Amino acid sequence: MQNVRIRAAIGSAGLVLVALILFPPLSFGADQSRAKEIIQQTCVQCHRLEGQPDSRFNLKAPDLIWAGSKYQRSWLIRWLTGKEAPLYAKGYRWDLTEVPSKHPMVTESEANAIADYFAEHNKDPRVKVGSFDLSKVTKFEATFGGMAYKAHACLGCHIIEENGTFIGGPQSASLVTAGQRYNQDWLFRFGQNPQDFTPHSGEFLADATEPQLRAVIGFLMVQGVKDFEYYEPWTSQEFGMANVDRGKVVYKEYCSQCHGATGKGDGPGASGLVPKPAIHANIPFDKLPMEYLYNVVNHGGAAMGKSPNMPYWNLTIGQQGVADVIAYMRATFKGAPDIAAAPSAGQGGTCVQPRQAVKVSDEFLTRMNPLPASTGTLQAGKELFLRTALPVACAMCHGEKGDGKGIMGAALVPPPRNFTCSSMMKDIPDGHLFWTIKNGSPGTGMMSFGGLPDEQVWQLIHYIRSLAK
Ligand code: HEC
Ligand code: HEC
Ligand code: HEC
Ligand code: HEC
Repeated sequence: MQNVRIRAAIGSAGLVLVALILFPPLSFGADQSRAKEIIQQTCVQCHRLEGQPDSRFNLKAPDLIWAGSKYQRSWLIRWLTGKEAPLYAKGYRWDLTEVPSKHPMVTESEANAIADYFAEHNKDPRVKVGSFDLSKVTKFEATFGGMAYKAHACLGCHIIEENGTFIGGPQSASLVTAGQRYNQDWLFRFGQNPQDFTPHSGEFLADATEPQLRAVIGFLMVQGVKDFEYYEPWTSQEFGMANVDRGKVVYKEYCSQCHGATGKGDGPGASGLVPKPAIHANIPFDKLPMEYLYNVVNHGGAAMGKSPNMPYWNLTIGQQGVADVIAYMRATFKGAPDIAAAPSAGQGGTCVQPRQAVKVSDEFLTRMNPLPASTGTLQAGKELFLRTALPVACAMCHGEKGDGKGIMGAALVPPPRNFTCSSMMKDIPDGHLFWTIKNGSPGTGMMSFGGLPDEQVWQLIHYIRSLAK
């Protein structure tokens, strides 16, 4: 029955298609010949629409051979109607200031006709439609892609925007608004081998694995896109059908070797580890943000600025395994009945704690907070501390009051710092706090917040100091 209906639907779609071919709307045909005329009279003076990929040193302008696959239509229309800024820096071979006039402009309807023309005549058969699924890009993946973008030298030649400023070498195309400009499938195919498109042009083939490349493409596809809707895996089908009993088996097979059979952090692997595996029995898991929980289990400790000895589990147990084990932890571990009584938290609330603190170089130690301790600064620091700092808010470990009694704190050996203890805090220089927040405290649960801009770290330091009594 279903089959018949689908076939019927395809049948009628086929009929519509035949009708379109036999009786194309008049204006469509007229637009197409107008587009062809413009392209043949104007555009081909500088651009190629067919042929083999060639060095930019032999070309007057970027190739449009694959124009029907490369651009998002709305960007293309804006470009052709003169509403987009040049992509290449002054002095680059294709710098528009080097050519006699500005880029030729066409009307809105001519631009639409040209876009239609490209879509019909300049599709690139090498580009597989649907090869990059934009609806599955997570915030973590895009952030990771941003790091890979830097690690693979992309920043050396292409400009992007970071915290409101343009950074990077102005060689080749600007990628500041890449997410508005490229079709994701073309970009992914380009990334697999740039030499298939721009050989002998100064281009660069990165030694990136496919997941890394996908992360870089995800990162580029959110550049210049306001309020991008990230995929949240913990709202996926796997999580909808997560099963506590299956999760219990996963925990026994994979997690108990370090975290212990009953989540006390005393598995056989634990003895050799610094910091110790988290004491899951002391964490009220249903109160943790799912985003953090998912990321630390799926992507591992190092990806969250924590100990690299906490493995990334995505490849081993898959999405369903991650969903199941999280369901198990949320159903099983409800936190220490009394945080103060938890063995690890013996000193969690106490004032002067033994400090693990590493030796920090003088270059850092002598740094002073450059911001005034204004109401605005303190407010900004408070917001970060209580809610917005990523990968997870400070209060989760250091407590809402900064007394070291956060809900995740009781799981950590040594416990989080108690910022209300002025007799201890007064002896720690600003520069030392700055270093620890940026890098974490090695061998402890204090993770690195390397992604926070310096200004936000200084705001946090003012706020932390304001808590000392
Ligand atoms: C006088 C030479 C010239 C002519 C004529 C010309 N272009 Fe261009 N075009 C350029 C240059 C140079 C650039 C790169 C400028 C930049 O982005 O800084 C460019 C960029 C573009 C881009 C963006 C390319 C990319 O991927 O970076 C498109 C699309 C484009 N032109 C389409 C057209 C169309 C369609 C026509 C005909 C209406 C046309 N151009 C006519 C020189 C020309
Ligand atoms: C050594 C300089 C250099 C490095 C490093 C580099 N690129 Fe490029 N890139 C180029 C040049 C040169 C081209 C081709 C010519 C052009 O389009 O200007 C290019 C082309 C591109 C294009 C196509 C531009 C367009 O719109 O046609 C993209 C996208 C791109 N690179 C992304 C990246 C990414 C991602 C990385 C990091 C993995 C990277 N590039 C690393 C120099 C570089
Ligand atoms: C090889 C030892 C090891 C194994 C196996 C292991 N973990 Fe961990 N885990 C750690 C360590 C060490 C930490 C503490 C990281 C830190 O504080 O920097 C940790 C931390 C965590 C945290 C973070 C708690 C917090 O306070 O932020 C969670 C959640 C977690 N592990 C879940 C799991 C799950 C689920 C499994 C099994 C699928 C697992 N771990 C298997 C070593 C391990
Ligand atoms: C996963 C739990 C956790 C989170 C989240 C966390 N901390 Fe910590 N933090 C700790 C632990 C544990 C210590 C104790 C480390 C030690 O003894 O060196 C610590 C210590 C510190 C110190 C002490 C430095 C010193 O020199 O003694 C500072 C400053 C600090 N954290 C700031 C922050 C800020 C700011 C945030 C949020 C941006 C934050 N922490 C988030 C667990 C955490």
